[in-house]
Amino acid sequence: MNFNNCHNINSFRQLAKQKLPSPIFNYIDGAADDEVTYSRNTKSFEDADLVPNVLRGVEDVDLTTNVFGKNISMPIYCAPTAVQRLFHYQGERAVAKAASKFGTMFGVSSLSTVSVEEIEKISNSPKMFQFYFHKDRALNQDLLDRAKNSNFDVLALTVDTITGGNRERDLRTGFTIPPKLTLQSMLEFALKPSWFLNHITSSPFELPHLKNYVKEGTNTVTSIGEYFSTMLDQNMSWKDAEDLNSKWGGQFALKGIMSVEDAKKAVDIGCSAVIVSNHGGRQLDGSRAPFDQLKEIVDAVGDKVDVICEGGIKRGTHVLKALSLGAKACSGGRMYLYALAAAGQRGVEKALSIMKNEIERDMKLMGCKKISELSRKNLRFRN
Ligand code: LAC
Repeated sequence: MNFNNCHNINSFRQLAKQKLPSPIFNYIDGAADDEVTYSRNTKSFEDADLVPNVLRGVEDVDLTTNVFGKNISMPIYCAPTAVQRLFHYQGERAVAKAASKFGTMFGVSSLSTVSVEEIEKISNSPKMFQFYFHKDRALNQDLLDRAKNSNFDVLALTVDTITGGNRERDLRTGFTIPPKLTLQSMLEFALKPSWFLNHITSSPFELPHLKNYVKEGTNTVTSIGEYFSTMLDQNMSWKDAEDLNSKWGGQFALKGIMSVEDAKKAVDIGCSAVIVSNHGGRQLDGSRAPFDQLKEIVDAVGDKVDVICEGGIKRGTHVLKALSLGAKACSGGRMYLYALAAAGQRGVEKALSIMKNEIERDMKLMGCKKISELSRKNLRFRN
């Protein structure tokens, strides 16, 4: 695979596989247990069919979407994902710049490798900060203050990582942050010299939001599972989420809501959005796919909060199906991460451009000029 032949998200996956040391590729590409939920996330879209209308004068299509109180240029944004400088030396900088260029939102993780302060300087699009609720309350306060002072627009509290998911690929490859230098990993790096060269010549790995609080923020090797299981507060409760929301005082979302019961509670604590997500299948295998669960949640709370569909999105038609069902917007992680790994900012731009072109073309083929014209009338489920 080469860059010029990347015409869809899956081709970027192939290119990323060529470029990355295998533990890093498998960290992005892998999920929990048997990865059943991971594959269902994308497959679920195949159980619904779009029913187009024609002869509607669709030359000019407007993809503008209002979500989290902001207008974004298309109904998909870049979900927050961790440790991006391990995937490509430009890391979060590339994603921030590409998202700004496309006028869409992007998320910065608590585990990002570029600070919120730097992101603020290089981005002019709406920004989400993804919040992990740590046992260390001083660290939590610091994360909140930094996101606020850096003018982030949305705080998204991740609620589906109460303990580490069983990522067996990572166990097999020995993936850690930062990568451990063992005989095996040296061999992997030797096989991907351009990744290795860029990695060792760019600034040293760190997690700028954690480094003043935990040794894992600099160069102590840890695994993601260990981080979730030991540092995050397993007693996190609805009261904690509500307190965080009131301390934040702005657009606030819970990321990883799957049940109607929880979606209703999210409304009760004053959330502005719920992100229907199973963490890319990386946590509870056997959990339902966001698209499968979307209708129930939209029916319950869609008139009160923005409902976001996150997980498995690889095609413009996936976005159109989720919006037809009532999602306000979609978000994707691997959707742009393979492209980041494959080609840095240029890759993310191409991935976003592919998604935008697909959505625009598919809107025309659906006979829709604006997002609000998509509805359940245009969608049929096979069963
Ligand atoms: C993961 C976290 C860090 O899924 O979002 O690996």
